[in-house]
Amino acid sequence: MKLTIEEFAEHFQIRKLSKDENIRDFDCGDEDLNEFLIKDAPLYQKALLANTYIIENKENGSIGAYFSLANDRIAIKDFPNNTEFNRFRRHRFVNEKRLTNYPAVKLCRFAVSDNVKGMSIGTFLLDYLKSWFVNDNRTGCRFITVDAYHDAEPFYLKNGFIYLTASDVDRSTRLMFFDLINIE
Ligand SMILES: CC(C)(COP(=O)(O)OP(=O)(O)OC[C@H]1O[C@@H](n2cnc3c(N)ncnc32)[C@H](O)[C@@H]1OP(=O)(O)O)[C@@H](O)C(=O)NCCC(=O)NCCS
Repeated sequence: MKLTIEEFAEHFQIRKLSKDENIRDFDCGDEDLNEFLIKDAPLYQKALLANTYIIENKENGSIGAYFSLANDRIAIKDFPNNTEFNRFRRHRFVNEKRLTNYPAVKLCRFAVSDNVKGMSIGTFLLDYLKSWFVNDNRTGCRFITVDAYHDAEPFYLKNGFIYLTASDVDRSTRLMFFDLINIE
């Protein structure tokens, strides 16, 4: 069953994981992602390495989803050679000064609980992030990047992400990005 954005807002709230908060129960079907939320997220937050946001059911407090974010960049080193980087750059920055890095935010972890998968919550959260980093961000940020799990690639493609290069096609995760200029 798909939720409307109004139903999502009525039943769920998004908030940053509090200091020293421990989540006990979350299952998205992927052990690494479950474990990150339960064990590692508070440590990453304390060490200023990644901030985690939880999507909480307003009625019973259960966690419907979470995502973790950290600063990132798209840089020459992400491409197999300078030619591919220049192609990426020229295509998007026609008149701008030549930079060797472009500011981005990395979606380090992203998971929707098995109980509420397929209800459009993942899509709503990506839309929320896109608008957040264009309208409310304090620093320049041009791209959202993600190391997409193979199974989740169709989900990111549906949400406007594209592959950065073809050189990671055989890896277990692929670097994908969304260009935030698309929603300005
Ligand atoms: C990937 C994930 C975040 C998607 O969240 P979700 O709330 O279930 O996604 P949505 O309901 O917004 O789906 C949007 C579209 O993507 C498709 N989609 C979602 N997950 C998919 C998957 N694993 N494979 C193929 N298509 C998928 C949906 O079918 C839907 O398409 P439709 O609009 O044509 O029906 C969620 O399935 C999940 O947490 N998976 C396990 C963890 C994971 O892989 N995280 C990503 C790590 S990079």
